[in-house]
Amino acid sequence: MTENKSGFQQVDPMTPEAVKVKKIFWETEDVFTLELAHENDEKREFNYKPGQFNMLYAFGVGEAAISISSDSSKKSSLLHTIHKVGYVTNVLSKLKKGDIIGLRGPFGSAWPLEQNKGKDICIIAGGIGLAPLRPAIYHILKHRKHYGKVVILYGVRTPRDILYPVELELWRKKYDVEIEVTVDRSDSTWRGHVGVVTTLLNYVELNPEKTRAMVCGPEIMMKFAVDELKKTGLDEKGIYVSLERNMKCALGFCGHCQYGPSFVCKDGPVFSFSNVTDIFEIKEL
Ligand SMILES: Cc1cc2nc3c(=O)[nH]c(=O)nc-3n(C[C@H](O)[C@H](O)[C@H](O)COP(=O)(O)OP(=O)(O)OC[C@H]3O[C@@H](n4cnc5c(N)ncnc54)[C@H](O)[C@@H]3O)c2cc1C
Ligand code: FES
Repeated sequence: MTENKSGFQQVDPMTPEAVKVKKIFWETEDVFTLELAHENDEKREFNYKPGQFNMLYAFGVGEAAISISSDSSKKSSLLHTIHKVGYVTNVLSKLKKGDIIGLRGPFGSAWPLEQNKGKDICIIAGGIGLAPLRPAIYHILKHRKHYGKVVILYGVRTPRDILYPVELELWRKKYDVEIEVTVDRSDSTWRGHVGVVTTLLNYVELNPEKTRAMVCGPEIMMKFAVDELKKTGLDEKGIYVSLERNMKCALGFCGHCQYGPSFVCKDGPVFSFSNVTDIFEIKEL
């Protein structure tokens, strides 16, 4: 067995490594977070970049691609925030502390954080899309002085679907960052914005020359967010999106996630929008 450069131990990239569930906790009614550590050596580190994903394997059931949602500077464990939608995620949601699952990764491209030092950053997330963006947010806030204005716009279906509410409040109070949250459907507890996430662009001022945007959420939401960002004058080269596609190998072999000459698992999931404009017209690959 060899250790790859990221500290993930693998015989070959198709063979999952056994990792241990350190903690499992529910974020909302149908979204939970798994904290994972190396099975036999909790001190061994995981190295990954914000925006990358792992393949999580529920033994005997199957694998699902799940983005890493933890702080990449804290290397002793990994967090994955998961929407319970189907076979694999259902089984993962029933795990208990100490249970073992398989893990392959990390895979894919990262949010362009180093290249955009000195720029203003606008993060737009829809629903569980905040999870793949959270490592980028941690990085930006940790290196706050390297970035200009930072704006986070977040939209969810109902107030009960807001992920990481305590952290959102902490970021708002502790850091120089503008955070606006909106819900599609309000309830009696909600005093904030109501409407789709793109309406939040009306409440912030972006300098199109200086701003780079990072967008993650359902594809239709990303399409509208990109359209609205372009209306404010942003160039699509400076807008980055994270794509989800059906994945099997995650290594660029099987072709499940292929579109044109690109593989979402290898060339993505994070792309500059200018490189994937046509994919938003393709319904399913
Ligand atoms: C790069 C990448 C990163 C991802 N990161 C995350 C992540 O951080 N967290 C996360 O929860 N998921 C993430 N996903 C999505 C996840 O891989 C899929 O939801 C996966 O299909 C779940 O496997 P399953 O066996 O539980 O569901 P499946 O059995 O594959 O699907 C069951 C049913 O649920 C429907 N379904 C699948 N996905 C969704 C969805 N997102 N919303 C509503 N219905 C759906 C399907 O159409 C199907 O009808 C990511 C996917 C990719 C490619
Ligand atoms: S998942 Fe096999 S090529 Fe991308």
